[in-house]
Amino acid sequence: MQREPRRRTYLMCSPEHFAVEYVINPWMDTSVAVDAAAAVAQWERLRQTLVGLGHEVHTLNPQVGLPDMVFAANGAFVVDGVAYGARFKYPQRSAEAKSHQEFYETNPGWGFVAPTVVNEGEGDFAYLPDAHGGLILAGHGFRTETAAHAEAQEALGRPVVSLRLVDPAFYHLDVALAALDDANIVYYPEAFSPASRKVLAQLFPDAVVADEADARAFGINLVSDGRTVVLNTGSDALAAKLRAVGYETAQVDLSELKKGGGSVKCCVAELRH
Ligand code: ARG
Repeated sequence: MQREPRRRTYLMCSPEHFAVEYVINPWMDTSVAVDAAAAVAQWERLRQTLVGLGHEVHTLNPQVGLPDMVFAANGAFVVDGVAYGARFKYPQRSAEAKSHQEFYETNPGWGFVAPTVVNEGEGDFAYLPDAHGGLILAGHGFRTETAAHAEAQEALGRPVVSLRLVDPAFYHLDVALAALDDANIVYYPEAFSPASRKVLAQLFPDAVVADEADARAFGINLVSDGRTVVLNTGSDALAAKLRAVGYETAQVDLSELKKGGGSVKCCVAELRH
């Protein structure tokens, strides 16, 4: 089966000031050395991979003192040209929201809805335009509050399905679930509560199911254009599984950024018109 790609618009932010200076997820360890120059080189290869696939990539200016700003997925969640802004859970990241807001307010073509409750943007929201007429999946349990799921539904006018995350290693939705195309997902069931697993099985009977090794290697933290899935190296079993169902795979090494608890998808916000 030849799968059809759709051209995407993405927003990224260089890890020039990337560091692990605080611990807000189980992957972060301040005693492990981080090489920001290596992080920039790895990030640049990811950016080039997306550009090489024909996608448009915008960038934000990295700010001194915001070491996690490279994880641009957390800054907002954009559907149908409207950005629902982020409000970060931890004060160490809260100033990042402003740069994202400015991007949507200064570039023509985007609406912006300010949030009133904690939510970490596309880190905890995914959008499937062709699933059930346009469906938002939303995670809660560690970062984003359930009240933000209702707020996102009001801001974006699409049904939101709340999913409960239960394993602190998978603290954001985007490390446990990803859209592979406009209608299907890949996910790691054990990251979700039994009830949420049941919901996912009902909504996505054809989903690709990832295993613990795939999830721990940040394999699910991927970006797909509907044909080519860009994912971290070291997720070979998942990559093979995806190729077996007709996707192409491009693996990029983001080992430096994994020290912050993120990989491909965390670095890439999708701007949907
Ligand atoms: N250190 C960052 C944090 O804990 C990593 C964010 C990863 N981003 C993501 N979309 N999962 O907030």
